[in-house]
Amino acid sequence: MIKITTTLTKTPKEMPPASKLGFGNYFSDHMFLAKFVEGQGWSDSQILPYGPIPMDPAAAVFHYGQALFEGMKAFRQENGQVVFFRPEFNYHRMKEGAERMCLEAPPLDLFMSGLHELVKVDQRWIPQGPNTALYVRPTLIGTEGFLGVRPSKETLFMIILSPVGSYYGEGNKPINIWTEENYIRAAPGGLGAVKAGANYAASLKPAWEAKKNGYAQVLWLNVDQQGIEEAGTMNIFFVFKNEIVTPALNGSILGGGTRDAIIQLLKSKNLPIVERRITMTEVLKGVQSKNLLEAFGTGTAAVISPIGGLHYRNQNLVINEGEWGQLSTDLYKEITSIQSGAMPDQFNWITALK
Ligand SMILES: Cc1ncc(COP(=O)(O)O)c(C=O)c1O
Repeated sequence: MIKITTTLTKTPKEMPPASKLGFGNYFSDHMFLAKFVEGQGWSDSQILPYGPIPMDPAAAVFHYGQALFEGMKAFRQENGQVVFFRPEFNYHRMKEGAERMCLEAPPLDLFMSGLHELVKVDQRWIPQGPNTALYVRPTLIGTEGFLGVRPSKETLFMIILSPVGSYYGEGNKPINIWTEENYIRAAPGGLGAVKAGANYAASLKPAWEAKKNGYAQVLWLNVDQQGIEEAGTMNIFFVFKNEIVTPALNGSILGGGTRDAIIQLLKSKNLPIVERRITMTEVLKGVQSKNLLEAFGTGTAAVISPIGGLHYRNQNLVINEGEWGQLSTDLYKEITSIQSGAMPDQFNWITALK
């Protein structure tokens, strides 16, 4: 049993209307913190009013980038039950990432107790309405203050909550993405397969430039500038006439929980899903020959996001006339119906709030 000390806020905030939420703009009233110190273990598990945390200016996270995070969602189902979507998946990904980042992963019961207790305390922050959820952001950072490059002997585990609406602002329209050929996100042997803050630092400049030019995300290529990796915050799927392809997890791509769920769903329908290397040449040919029927990104934030346009080498490739395709529509409906409780959870993806 994990002992969690709870201090409730004396100034609860007003919850914004669902239509104003957007993504990641608001935070609930409380946060969960727990601390690890080498030789002493985990302690100080607590729920506190959401707010600033005191940090040593020499903390490893500020200088050597020891930061790793997760993203998952909680929903209030149609019968009022609060549920999480695949929290064990996020826990295991965080544990693997922590190992790569030389951070201490919390034990499973600490992670789950913090998650359940915090969401219980801040339940009123779960928004209601289509495309809304309570986004959960568990994070690990190295907090020991020292200079000199080595792993921090202290890790802070935090969970914060953000009520969210649609990720791409303009509702759920297919997005345009920019194929990036000047910058790469991650190289073999690097941090690409884990959810390290550093990957996002590397992505900010190209992603921001793409955004300024009207593209919602960047499509990342491999170091050879041909193999497709993933989109900014999503894995990617291409629906060809004879097969559905998603890039294989090659060590520099983040293995998404939504990607994994979509693969399971497609397999359960006996659809020809293949995880393999796929190149821009193949996608270009697919568009030209009309063999490529749909492309979509998958991620916790947007669930499924169809790609209506792909910019590549001075060309704007239009996919499925810039509209939602049949498969993207069906998969989106299926996953969101399992999340809302409208469809049975045959895959065991849903965990009820304790
Ligand atoms: C780089 C990157 N790839 C893929 C994903 C999709 O992962 P998931 O489906 O677990 O949200 C995300 C989102 O978290 C991401 O940031």
